[in-house]
Amino acid sequence: MNSTYLIRPAVESDVLGLERLDTQSNPYPWGKTLISDALAVRLNWVVCEAQNPQAIAAWLTASRAVDQSELELIVVDQSARRQGLAKAMTLNWLQELTSKGVKEFLLEVRESNVEAIRLYESLGFELVGRRQNYYKTAAGREAACLYTLNRVK
Ligand SMILES: CC(C)(COP(=O)(O)OP(=O)(O)OC[C@H]1O[C@@H](n2cnc3c(N)ncnc32)[C@H](O)[C@@H]1OP(=O)(O)O)[C@@H](O)C(=O)NCCC(=O)NCCS
Repeated sequence: MNSTYLIRPAVESDVLGLERLDTQSNPYPWGKTLISDALAVRLNWVVCEAQNPQAIAAWLTASRAVDQSELELIVVDQSARRQGLAKAMTLNWLQELTSKGVKEFLLEVRESNVEAIRLYESLGFELVGRRQNYYKTAAGREAACLYTLNRVK
């Protein structure tokens, strides 16, 4: 990620920017209600333009329960992909929560989502299970792949 961008915690007033990002760049959009819920109860970071903090290029939302944290969604604006934004945000999530005592990181991803799977595996996430027919697709259903990363051995 170059210095055009920076990572900051999301705030309530980001809701419109997140809705725009979700509509334009999330293949399975969450919609208004889930976005507002995420802002209210989850941990959220955005990548924004350094010169314009309201301009949101990416969003990561995660939940935390004691020493575990689960990635709920990461989405990068279509025009800002392959510049390391998702990698930077994921590393930021791992570093921030490791420093607060989280030991295990979890996520689920559609088995067809090769881009995301490459990202997670490149950061050390390991496949630990599959849920068959878990997600809906346009043509039917597909499996969820479950990944974990343990930061403390
Ligand atoms: C998956 C997604 C978040 C990746 O965002 P990104 O900012 O483009 O990813 P990065 O530039 O940080 O890429 C990091 C690594 O991921 C992998 N990767 C990302 N996009 C890829 C692609 N199109 N093809 C192959 N590998 C890819 C690569 O290993 C890449 O490292 P490299 O560039 O050194 O090869 C983005 O494509 C996206 O928003 N997709 C739609 C939402 C989604 O599916 N989210 C994940 C499920 S929650």
